[in-house]
Amino acid sequence: MSSQSKPLATTPPMGWNSWNMFGWNIHEDSVRQTADALASMGFRELGYEYIVIDDCWSRKSGRDSNGDLVPDPDKFPNGMKALADYVHNLGFKIGIYSDAADLTCGSHPGSYGFEDQDANLWASWGFDYLKYDYCNAPFDQESAIQRYTRMGDALRNTGRQFLFSLCEWGGRSPHLWGRKVGGQMWRVSGDVFDSWINIWIADWKTYGTGIDVSLEYAADLADYGGPGGWNDLDMLIVGLKGKGLIHGGGMSFLEYQTHMSMWCMACSPLMIGCDVRKMEKDTADLLTNREVLVINQDPLGKPAHRVKQFGSCEVWKKPLADGTLAVALINRGSSGSDILLKAGDIGLLDTPKLVRNLWAEQDIADFKADINLRVQPHETILLKVQA
Ligand code: GLA
Repeated sequence: MSSQSKPLATTPPMGWNSWNMFGWNIHEDSVRQTADALASMGFRELGYEYIVIDDCWSRKSGRDSNGDLVPDPDKFPNGMKALADYVHNLGFKIGIYSDAADLTCGSHPGSYGFEDQDANLWASWGFDYLKYDYCNAPFDQESAIQRYTRMGDALRNTGRQFLFSLCEWGGRSPHLWGRKVGGQMWRVSGDVFDSWINIWIADWKTYGTGIDVSLEYAADLADYGGPGGWNDLDMLIVGLKGKGLIHGGGMSFLEYQTHMSMWCMACSPLMIGCDVRKMEKDTADLLTNREVLVINQDPLGKPAHRVKQFGSCEVWKKPLADGTLAVALINRGSSGSDILLKAGDIGLLDTPKLVRNLWAEQDIADFKADINLRVQPHETILLKVQA
């Protein structure tokens, strides 16, 4: 099978996206340095594959006289092909961004009416991925399906393989039609900000989605993600610590850990959002734990379901290809709590089982009927249970 026809996104896409950290201040130097840093820290081998340039990469004043998009010469003085070559040489793939209307969310030229021309241009530069946003486009579902279909067709007609990432924020139920328009992932919410709770972002005059609320989208849509098409809970905020353009005050270590745990349980794409050039150890620990990443990348590709809720505590279960289960014990409340996990909660009999705590990288117990674990406020304990 040629690399052209290799099926895309058989497991959730992984990589890095420029928006959460850099926003409109994107520059080719930061993209190159990011790719260098990820390569030297071994992230490629862990599965992080796509380096994605988000909004505001093109000349704001408009297309050239041929109708082509033009990279902003101050931000990308060497052009996009040179950058794509650089990123490819490090073993990564490269992504770009546009919007299904005249203007993007950041008011740069969008691709509506220029789908074929833009797709061919990105293909000529060697791009591998398109994130396609929906600002300034009609509200209704039919228009969205039509506009995403146009771009999906245009990408396919280039003859180059593109991963197609839909970003209409869930309002038009893209989990029902994302695959049909050629998409491999679809956002399920508005933008996740660097916050546990939903938060008013005064300087943006918008509400940001918090991690706690994202879990509800993951629970509601668990049946719709799977190999080739994934619910996208949005880019990771792990490691932003309040320093990103996408701000919101930051979260505690345990909150970032819950975020990472549940993006893995939900089979969400894992697109890093922080500045990886100065990654601190706690952030690296969250992004590089192999046993946790394996849960996200499990070939069965079944997003977790919430199986039990009591007070502010929850149990989620995700079946894995090897017949074992990943189980998350989450405390969404503000004080520590014991969670009693009963075998029946996760569909098992009272026979001996091996339990491994994935973040601690330790086998913690055998249990038959139940096991009791203390879970700190906003913490998630991630277990692998082998019956
Ligand atoms: C929207 C998207 C974000 C980001 C910005 C860029 O808000 O949801 O992920 O792409 O646009 O302007």
